[in-house]
Amino acid sequence: MTFDDQEYLTRYPFIEKILISSDEIQLRVKELAVEISNDYQGSIPIFVCILKGAYPFLADLTRRVAVDHEVDFMAVSSYGGGTESSGVVKIIKDLKANIVDRDIILVEDIIDTGLTIANLIEVLETRNPRSIRVAALLDKKIARKKEVPLHYPGFEIPKEFVIGYGLDYNEKYRNLPFIGVMKA
Ligand code: IMP
Ligand code: MG
Repeated sequence: MTFDDQEYLTRYPFIEKILISSDEIQLRVKELAVEISNDYQGSIPIFVCILKGAYPFLADLTRRVAVDHEVDFMAVSSYGGGTESSGVVKIIKDLKANIVDRDIILVEDIIDTGLTIANLIEVLETRNPRSIRVAALLDKKIARKKEVPLHYPGFEIPKEFVIGYGLDYNEKYRNLPFIGVMKA
């Protein structure tokens, strides 16, 4: 038995609407995987999953990538004074891989202000990889404070707080197979 997107709405009554359905996500992820497979022929890129939010995206994406590759994991927290993220990243869990001369694909759930990913790229550049590109399922472009290169964007979304497919609210709802908006 499968659990259709609509059925979650009865179990999770605080979800206002489904913004991107699980079918739409899977289709787009496949398209991105084809693009990546074409771009990285002859290379063995390392997909770096930014924990925790990117784990479903990493899993679905890499399963559709048809070139040899490795995966690694990194956890960061952006912190700073005040109410807004300063974008200063603190590495909570570092990579296992040596990335010198390697092609890196950072896999993110969402680019919001862009501060986290911009700082992470700065940190990783000091380790002399061959290249760094970014794949993000969601792009909240309108919230951007720092321009970041986003080579493989999934969907552009409005400035709304979303949950599901890895994205959490107080650590919950990462399990939802779609991207949803919570009731205010
Ligand atoms: P930023 O790009 O530095 O602002 O931070 C992006 C991070 O903020 C993401 O990796 C998410 O963890 C979190 N985030 C931003 N927008 C949302 C959202 O709508 N729902 C859940 N998490 C979000
Ligand atoms: Mg995150």
